[in-house]
Amino acid sequence: MAAWSRGYAAASPYRIAFQVAQNPGHLAVVCAMAGVDWQPHEALRVADLGCGRGHAVNALAAANPGWTVLGIDTTPGQLAEGMELAARAGLGNALFLEADLARLSEAELERIAPLDVVMLHGVWSWVSDEVRAGVLRFLRHCLKPGGIAYLGYNALPAAGVDFALQRLLRHLAGDRQDAAAAALAMARLREVAPALPLRPSAMLTRLLADPPVLEPGFVAHEFLTAHWRPVFHEDLCGDLRAAKLDFVGSCNLFEALPALRCEPAENALLEALPEGGAREFGMDLFLPRGFRADLFIRGPRRVDPQAAMARLVLGATRPLPAESPSLGTGRGSVAMAEPAWEALAAALAEAEVLPLGELQRRIGPGAPKLAELLAILIGTELAAPVFRRPERKPAATRFNLAAAAQHHWAEGGHYALASPVAAGGLPANALELALAAALLDGADPDDPGALARRLEPGLEEDGLARAAARITEIWEARIPAWRRFGVI
Ligand SMILES: C[S@@+](CC[C@H](N)C(=O)[O-])C[C@H]1O[C@@H](n2cnc3c(N)ncnc32)[C@H](O)[C@@H]1O
Repeated sequence: MAAWSRGYAAASPYRIAFQVAQNPGHLAVVCAMAGVDWQPHEALRVADLGCGRGHAVNALAAANPGWTVLGIDTTPGQLAEGMELAARAGLGNALFLEADLARLSEAELERIAPLDVVMLHGVWSWVSDEVRAGVLRFLRHCLKPGGIAYLGYNALPAAGVDFALQRLLRHLAGDRQDAAAAALAMARLREVAPALPLRPSAMLTRLLADPPVLEPGFVAHEFLTAHWRPVFHEDLCGDLRAAKLDFVGSCNLFEALPALRCEPAENALLEALPEGGAREFGMDLFLPRGFRADLFIRGPRRVDPQAAMARLVLGATRPLPAESPSLGTGRGSVAMAEPAWEALAAALAEAEVLPLGELQRRIGPGAPKLAELLAILIGTELAAPVFRRPERKPAATRFNLAAAAQHHWAEGGHYALASPVAAGGLPANALELALAAALLDGADPDDPGALARRLEPGLEEDGLARAAARITEIWEARIPAWRRFGVI
């Protein structure tokens, strides 16, 4: 283990997994739902702490040429990848700093101009107390009054079940931390698991899957890191209070809907708890929230949530299905009644983008509440918030082309297509990245066969026909939305 990594498993790169909650536009939706006044503006300053390979940093910088986006990480190999892509895409507003968060001095922090947004996805529960103290110092010095912070972290009690499993894997890896050690530990775990009284968990099932479903590089970061430990939401809130941060809400929008959170009897128990930490703890007991995605603000200003939500403008990111999707959590599910869904789909198809209040008005009697509409449309990734007029921007195009060239289309993965309209990234797998890039490169949307031959020159006729059919399906589903969101 290298001393500079402070126990973090830094020997192999982390996988890229772009989250919609990394879009400040999504965070504005969370604020509106909670009745907190916050919106992105054209000169936003954003920092991604523990930015890994810098994909989110580059996507946000590309979608918003007026913003400054700073990525900080301690692992040089990962940063190099992000910096190279920023250079290839000509993103002068994507900045990268190699630094150990535990060691940034007050003088260094003073040199960072005040930030509007700080995000940490997958960092807080992975790092030592010293690094956490460094994060708090960073937030205290660098997040401006009224600024917001997003934290995605492993949460107790649900993630506690994996605590002993993590320790076991570290022993099975012989205290090494690279991807090869993780592969070895997973193989050993499969051998010893039948004889051990391990508590069942979703992660255990994934670790034992044969053939393996988890890449060893991911398992190294997740399980071979010395300080990994999930935390109670309340304790995180307590720590962040030192940086004057207050909890705004969960970035998983469905959690705002009582019918989806818990069964009715459980909801009654929750309602009896005092609002705040106790109620959140209660929800963590009922909902399997092993990973929480939470938003905080430094100095909340209140706004009427109904008015704030009504002003949000939405556009569809996929063709809306004929029937309402059912949003399910394992604890409950909701779907919209048929006439309301039909009216919603017709209104969005006709107008392309609509303020939420207007959408609700056009649905008419029986329309769901504004928060329900947001949960069902954004929570299922069928729609995204819209911040600008539909327009393609050169920086977003350069990023989308460079990202597609970097990630081979057969990998799957969770990436972002930079969208100036959404002021952030639209989630995409590697094939979608490749198809958007091909369109930007002049491919004929009416000739999927030619594109299949270009992407996969070695395929026989049968394979080519299958690839062309898959491409047609994705193109039909995605082209209108990519146009609407300024991607192509
Ligand atoms: C689990 S990864 C998450 C990466 C990225 N946020 C993402 O979601 O893809 C944690 C990241 O934190 C970084 N990290 C760990 N300790 C750090 C420290 N002391 N200072 C800065 N970055 C650190 C690691 O290098 C790694 O890239």
